[in-house]
Amino acid sequence: MKNSISGFSKLSKEEKITWLSKTYLKNATAAVDVLKQYWNPDAKLQQLHDEFTENTVSNFYLPFGIAPNFVINERSYAVPMVVEESSVIAAASKAAKFWAVRGGFKTKVLGTKKTGQVHFMFPGKKENLISFFNHCRPKMLEQTQHISKNMEKRGGGIVDIELKDKTRELPNYYQLHATFETLDAMGANFINSCLEQFGKTFEFEAQKFPRFSAEEKQLRVVMAILSNYVPECLVRAEVNCPVEEFSEAGIDGKTFAKKFIQAVKIAEIEPIRAVTHNKGIMNGVDAVVLATGNDFRAVEAGVHAFAAKDGKYTSLTHAKVENGIFYFWIEIPLALGTVGGLTNLHPLVKAALEILQRPSAKELMEIAAAAGLAQNFAAVKSLVTTGIQKGHMKMHLLNMLNQHQATDVEKATIIEQFETRPITHSAVVKAIEELRQ
Ligand code: MEV
Repeated sequence: MKNSISGFSKLSKEEKITWLSKTYLKNATAAVDVLKQYWNPDAKLQQLHDEFTENTVSNFYLPFGIAPNFVINERSYAVPMVVEESSVIAAASKAAKFWAVRGGFKTKVLGTKKTGQVHFMFPGKKENLISFFNHCRPKMLEQTQHISKNMEKRGGGIVDIELKDKTRELPNYYQLHATFETLDAMGANFINSCLEQFGKTFEFEAQKFPRFSAEEKQLRVVMAILSNYVPECLVRAEVNCPVEEFSEAGIDGKTFAKKFIQAVKIAEIEPIRAVTHNKGIMNGVDAVVLATGNDFRAVEAGVHAFAAKDGKYTSLTHAKVENGIFYFWIEIPLALGTVGGLTNLHPLVKAALEILQRPSAKELMEIAAAAGLAQNFAAVKSLVTTGIQKGHMKMHLLNMLNQHQATDVEKATIIEQFETRPITHSAVVKAIEELRQ
């Protein structure tokens, strides 16, 4: 294969870049210079980052910002958010401030259970499998003791193991469906280690089980892995206020609430809108998940599967008016951790957790859910009032100016010019050109 290389991972960072430069950059120095420009001068800190993953050649910065004024369960927070999209942090901050004077966010963790499965094939009688499962269950628990004892000491561990028959969907296919409580840890390594041990014990014991026929002893594990679908690791966040206090942008509370609820209802019944509506929620959730060193891919996968749990993709937030009170709420599955993984390693993650006053995993679930609700509130509010582009383009103006290498003086002049004018790409370019003439 053209340009293939073996042993790339064994090369030093410098050698990797040299190879890249010769093979794909035609020895152009600009890209190489940029890669090196982002190396941290503190060699120890750089090594830490190099070792988070494989084949590191540089660091990729994202802005680490703060959305202040969040009041969650009567406690105030400045929420760290890592996100590149202009206007996300400004929107979260504005929403937090709006709700801070209307009672803040009320949140509650509804469950913290996570699951994983040992997927296996069993060519035999179901009743024999059930009696084998009952025989093997204590052995599986015993043989995972060395993995689970520390978690158990802290009050967590393996909660349950069930046998699930999936043969109607796929011949011979069964599962060991295990439930875990991982406390403040995200717990992926703990869960996967337990599951792999369950699988080994199950397969090994099957070969010796007297009631099994020779064919039944062919019970074979296909794979053992946690699930990122976590409907029982669920958090609720809500805001509410009397309708008359819900006025915004010169619109009275009743009219604003009516239009807001209509927009949420559209996302509830129309999957095409729900995807974008939920994307707006995840602008807030992911930014907190990233800042706190959690796995945003796992969160994304679990959240969107949850949004489709009843067979049709729908909104994660809901709104209503009842007895003169406007309610807006979210229920969202979030498997997050505040110990283990990157949380003990990445200096910025440690700083983010300090800023959040060292939350437990449950508190972090509540903070992330509140950030998601705040973001959705801000987006829907803009959509049903001014439209999204006004705020978005205002924040994007700086990106456009940076793209044209505007000086600080040019930036200040143009930002002032566009305070009262609609911001479009062509208008900004024209303004820069005029200024430079
Ligand atoms: C943009 O990142 C997010 C929004 O599209 C969300 C929404 O439409 O609700 C503004």
